[in-house]
Order: sequence, then C-alpha cells, then structure tokens
Amino acid sequence: MRIDLLTIFPGYFTGPLDTSLVASARDADILDVRVHDLRDWATDRHRSVDDAPYGGGAGMVMRADVLVDAAESVWNDVPPGAAPPAAGAVAGGARPRTVLFTPRGRPLDQALVRELAGEERLVLLCGRYEGIDERVHELVATDEVSLGDYVLMGGEVAAAAVIEAVVRLLPGVLGNATSTAEESFERGLLEHPQYTRPAELRGLGVPEVLRSGDHGAVAAWRHAQALARTRAVRPDLLGPDGSAEGATRPG
Ligand code: ADE
Repeated sequence: MRIDLLTIFPGYFTGPLDTSLVASARDADILDVRVHDLRDWATDRHRSVDDAPYGGGAGMVMRADVLVDAAESVWNDVPPGAAPPAAGAVAGGARPRTVLFTPRGRPLDQALVRELAGEERLVLLCGRYEGIDERVHELVATDEVSLGDYVLMGGEVAAAAVIEAVVRLLPGVLGNATSTAEESFERGLLEHPQYTRPAELRGLGVPEVLRSGDHGAVAAWRHAQALARTRAVRPDLLGPDGSAEGATRPG
C-alpha cells in the first residue's frame, strides 16, 4: 500500500512512521509512506497556507488553492509547481481515496479501517487552524473522517491513528492472522480478558477455566466475558435486545 501524507508538520510523523510494525512494514516494502509539506505548494514568500475567513470572525482558514494544488500534485505524482494533466484530473483514472480529517467527519471505526486497508493508495490530508475552506471538502476529499467527538489542534493525530490501524491489517504485517479476527470490534464485541504468567500476582489469580485445557469451556467463558464487558461499557455495539446475535457487526 502507498500512503501520502499532506501536513504542515511533516516532522510530526517521524516517530510514528519509524516505530514498531509501521517501520517493519516499510522495511518489508509492504508499505510506502511519503510525507509532504503543504507549504511546498504555497505561492507567497511567507509560504502561507491559511488566511482570514470571509465574513469575519476569529481564527484562520486553510486555503483551498494551496490544498487543491497539493492534492492534485500528489494524486498525479508530480512535484509542487508542476502542472497536473488538467484541473481535477488524475492520470490513469480515479483519484485515490483521499481522507480529510475533521471533527465533522465520519467517526473512525474498525469497519472504516477495514475499508481503507483494502485500498492500494491512500492520501491523508491533515487540516490545522480553525477550519478548512469548504471547497477543499468538495474538490479534494473522497472521505471526511473524525477521530472522535472532541476537537484536536489538527488532523495529524488522526492520520497517525489511521496508519496504525490500517497497516496492522495489511497482509504480512501481523504474524498471527487469527489474532485480528478475535480482537475487539472484529466480532462486534469488546475483547475478553487475557492473562499470562505468573499464575498469581499480589493475591490475584487466573480464572481456573483458562488453565483447564478444555478448549470448549475456554471459548464459552471468553464469549460470555466479552458479552458482559460490551454490555457494561459499550451497549451501543449490541442489538436492541442486548444480545451478541443482534450486535451490529462493524463492517
Ligand atoms: N481535527 C480536529 N479535530 C479532529 C477530530 N476530532 N478528528 C479528526 N480531525 C480533527
């Protein structure tokens, strides 16, 4: 998979892209990430990417001309300043899935992560400041995604979250393929409790069933625990009758 990141803080991604499984996926050529500085598409000597809002008001707004030019360059793999084939056009077909991060977007969940993990290319556009010119939403974004119902200072954290969640689903990244199928959200339930050695810690033991060797009993216990935990913490994931059968499987 190829991911292009558009941001005014390219340095932000140094850690997340060079750590852990994301770094391994890049080393193994499963993942090709390219980070672009939006200021490279600015046209004035201050390299501005924002301006005052029409109609007045506090804060600055990210400029549509800069962001549209940047997206078109990246879609067409041409450097800043080089002309793309035609306004809005993409060489070789449809524009790649282009995610604009904004609190007004679709909340990120595992179903959306799975969808994005199926793409060959992703372009992740990180907004900053108080807002983004509406024409960017119209001309650039195929998707608008929110990390949750709170306001961040920009989309960089959300882009890093998407990369982590997507990359671990790419074939060859996780050693044990069954582990993603069993974890939280993949079956519409939160994950059951897990234990490893030592068998006792500060007076706390491990449920006897997990040491019984009875695989059927272990599976039944885990399912019951997952269901109870989901009912207590995230009843919204379950069907209206509160049963796992009615769970709205995310995806
Ligand atoms: N930018 C600012 N707040 C955000 C959020 N909650 N999700 C995604 N991008 C954002």
